[in-house]
Amino acid sequence: MTTQFDPFSPKLKQDPYSIYKYFRQNDPVHWGKPIKPKLPGAWYLFHYEDVVSFLNSSLFARASSESKTESQKSTGVDSASSLRKRWLFSLDPPEHGQIKSLIIPAFQARSVENYRSHISQRITEIITSLSPPVQIDFVKDFAFPITTRIIADLLGIAETELSQFQIWSKKIADGIALQNDPQAIAQADEATKQLANYFRRTIKERETINTQLLPEKAQEFLTEKDLVAHLVQFIFAGIESTSNLIANSLLCLFRFPEQHNLLRQNPELIPQAVEEFLRFESPTQTTAARTCLEKVTINGREILPGQKVIAVLGSANRDEKIFINPEQLDITREPNPHIAFGQGIHFCLGIHLSRLEVQQVYKQLFQNYASIAPIPYSLSWRSNWVIRGLHSLPIRLN
Ligand code: HEM
Repeated sequence: MTTQFDPFSPKLKQDPYSIYKYFRQNDPVHWGKPIKPKLPGAWYLFHYEDVVSFLNSSLFARASSESKTESQKSTGVDSASSLRKRWLFSLDPPEHGQIKSLIIPAFQARSVENYRSHISQRITEIITSLSPPVQIDFVKDFAFPITTRIIADLLGIAETELSQFQIWSKKIADGIALQNDPQAIAQADEATKQLANYFRRTIKERETINTQLLPEKAQEFLTEKDLVAHLVQFIFAGIESTSNLIANSLLCLFRFPEQHNLLRQNPELIPQAVEEFLRFESPTQTTAARTCLEKVTINGREILPGQKVIAVLGSANRDEKIFINPEQLDITREPNPHIAFGQGIHFCLGIHLSRLEVQQVYKQLFQNYASIAPIPYSLSWRSNWVIRGLHSLPIRLN
């Protein structure tokens, strides 16, 4: 076992959980290899309690001490990275709170409930197109198309544009979070720019953007650049994590067939099961890096100003101090205080939307297919450690 954590280790993609366990037991606040080549290193937090207190602390920030990246310097204010710096993920207080409070009404449970019948209709359409018996790739033929369709509807995007949106979203996901492959980073930048240009053109043509996800008040208040940045963010955040959750959770059920049977026989357990899927195979394995603002001690380790800190959510969600038998998928787990949606001021905006989508997917899959079975295949995980997602999951529906 390596003693220095490496966010780019190929082993981490195949089986992150045994690596996390080692660090939880041996060095839970760990100075590991850097997330970017020029940095000396980064802190990785593996324990649940440390992650929660870190994410709720005001002694760390997203943007304030980061210098401009090369691409931002060379291409001016509208470069891909300068656009991503306007995402909620990247903002710090007080601006973060001002903008989030304008956007949040569209994502509250009450608002999302209004989308229920529409979401269910979209899932029915895809299910109707797959009459059993049929073999599909659950990732490419189901999980990604359904989440793309739903987010595109909420953003007022036409059906003809969907496949292009899916490609852009995937390129952004593969290239922005913890990536050291220059080609992947360049492709993410290009995809960000193209998506932004699409929204800019739409706003110019229609003089508005017909989306349910940005309340009128937010549309009036935000500059065009911010509006575009948030729309791009919704595409990436809305498609990637939810699609990966849908596919990862089916894999969980294949790996724990007794839980699969239990769920099929007791569909009222679906909401609880979705929380367990989120805990067990968290689609976002880490939060974005934060920068330390003042010297602070976490669990006996001193963190210095300017150093980067990363909360490993996938490890916190398997912390044996919090979860009994954490390596077991237990769809009846109660309580289940997982933190797959983060914590603190950057707590996920899409929590109600993604829960509703995934719950509805399983309800309708069980209603429409008597059996859902894997087709033997060697699993391959996406190249980016942060985004826990499969390339492919071949299945047979009967
Ligand atoms: C299973 C699905 C999802 C998971 C696991 C997930 C996970 C997360 C996590 C861990 C964070 C915090 C990141 C950090 O602290 O650095 C976050 C933030 C965020 N998520 Fe999600 N997310 C999901 C779905 C969605 C959806 C559907 C949307 C929108 C359409 C969305 C929009 C956002 C936004 C805008 C933020 C930033 C919030 C802020 O900075 O205040 N997410 N998400």
